[in-house]
Amino acid sequence: MEVVIYPDAERVARHGAGLVEAMLKVKPDAVFGFATGRTPIALYRRLVERHRTGAVSFARTTSFNLDEYLGIPADSPQSYRSFMDREFFDHVDIERENTHLPACAEGENPQRVGPAYEARIRAAGGIDLQILGIGHNGHIGFNEPSSSLASRTRVKTLTRRTLEANGRLFAADEFQPRLAITMGIGTIMEARRILLLATGAAKAAAVAGLVEGPVTAMCPASALQWHERVTVLLDEAAAAQLRYREYYDLAHRENRALKERFGDFYAPE
Ligand code: GLP
Repeated sequence: MEVVIYPDAERVARHGAGLVEAMLKVKPDAVFGFATGRTPIALYRRLVERHRTGAVSFARTTSFNLDEYLGIPADSPQSYRSFMDREFFDHVDIERENTHLPACAEGENPQRVGPAYEARIRAAGGIDLQILGIGHNGHIGFNEPSSSLASRTRVKTLTRRTLEANGRLFAADEFQPRLAITMGIGTIMEARRILLLATGAAKAAAVAGLVEGPVTAMCPASALQWHERVTVLLDEAAAAQLRYREYYDLAHRENRALKERFGDFYAPE
């Protein structure tokens, strides 16, 4: 696991956007796994800026989002589809039919959505780069604590803590879904490369669990310790509870020196 700590959230976004851009250079038809939440917004903004200058194109890419609420229509402003359109898809050249979310249409059996979504990911050749945030309780996607580390895309009930954290986006009289369909931890682990972003002091405990804690279903993000290619980008506040902080900085400096000497090795499958 590569852990890189920056003084602020802006640098985190810049590094994250740089990795997306590097992926596009070697694989213009890359398959991306996208995340919602406040954290990746700065990264999406940077990518939109880079797209406007003509530096990057998403025209040949495909995307699969981690999760979607169950019980609100896709065109609701609260849906993750709307979030992605608003924050990213509407501002870049990705083909809308190539953007996927695990949404359940009105009247559809939600239990069928997961297996169909998995089949679509497989048909696209799997995810090249998965972007992740992290919940206060260590969730990734909507895999709440106690989620099986082998789980696949399915319906999940949200914890009270998650409902409270995400409740800020809903008006008092507005319906807030208590269920969502999320890629499973097993699904996320199949991405060839993973980029997790965390910023702010509220994420410090979850980040410590992810990087230095035991691998446990009680901190779903800790499963990433078993993944071969994970980059964790943090700001100072989110890194505050890491015990090996000094080592991560040292390793980052060494890795950077290697890259300067030998180039940035990146070979997608
Ligand atoms: C939601 C999403 C996660 C996201 C998390 C943190 O619950 N399902 O994918 O990582 O919230 O969100 P934020 O970045 O707003 O803190």
